[in-house]
Amino acid sequence: MAKLFGNLHLVLLLGLIVAIGLIFCVSVDRPDVLSPNAILRWFHVFFGITWIGLLYYFNFVQIPTMPTIPAELKPGVSKFIAPKALFFFRWAALLTVLTGLSVAYVSGYAKEAMMLDRTYRLIGIGMYLALFMAANVWFVIWPNQKRALGIVPADDASKAASTKMAMMASRLNTLLSIPMLFAMTNFS
Ligand code: HEM
Repeated sequence: MAKLFGNLHLVLLLGLIVAIGLIFCVSVDRPDVLSPNAILRWFHVFFGITWIGLLYYFNFVQIPTMPTIPAELKPGVSKFIAPKALFFFRWAALLTVLTGLSVAYVSGYAKEAMMLDRTYRLIGIGMYLALFMAANVWFVIWPNQKRALGIVPADDASKAASTKMAMMASRLNTLLSIPMLFAMTNFS
């Protein structure tokens, strides 16, 4: 048992198998669970949780705790934990966007939502908020974090400015995540 739970990939695979079992069991009464829309929604929420979960980890745990960590222990976070967390963070953001846009497309209202047509205004606003947040991840947070964490070379002044910029962009995304989640979960 310890061997199984010690292997993350195996645990994820098992979760997937259990979910597929569940889908086939309920599909007898609910054939719609086998539709591309249902499958895309499922992946969309999985990637969304991974992305926003890591955003909240940065803002609720890592950023506030960093100043209290003794200097000799800080590299444990900046050299090991943060780069790995940022890897899952930015790719989950991209996959959330791709699956989210696909859900809108297969649901048949992508254009109406993007045009903020009356019926689709709430999900449209949620999509724009999340698209802005994802752009923030890829074009502001990640380039600044690369300098801040020493993944690319930068002098001390530019490192300090990049740390501040990444923090503010991350805080803005935390703020926007709250209305975004309301829009995502209350459209239909
Ligand atoms: C650019 C990014 C995003 C796009 C384009 C997008 C798009 C969508 C669309 C079209 C829906 C279906 C609404 C419906 O028909 O009921 C949806 C649902 C949802 N989204 Fe997103 N979304 C994005 C980001 C996010 C993020 C970051 C999260 C965070 C967890 C998230 C969580 C959800 C949830 C929980 C649902 C409800 C699923 C359901 O009730 O079936 N989305 N999204």
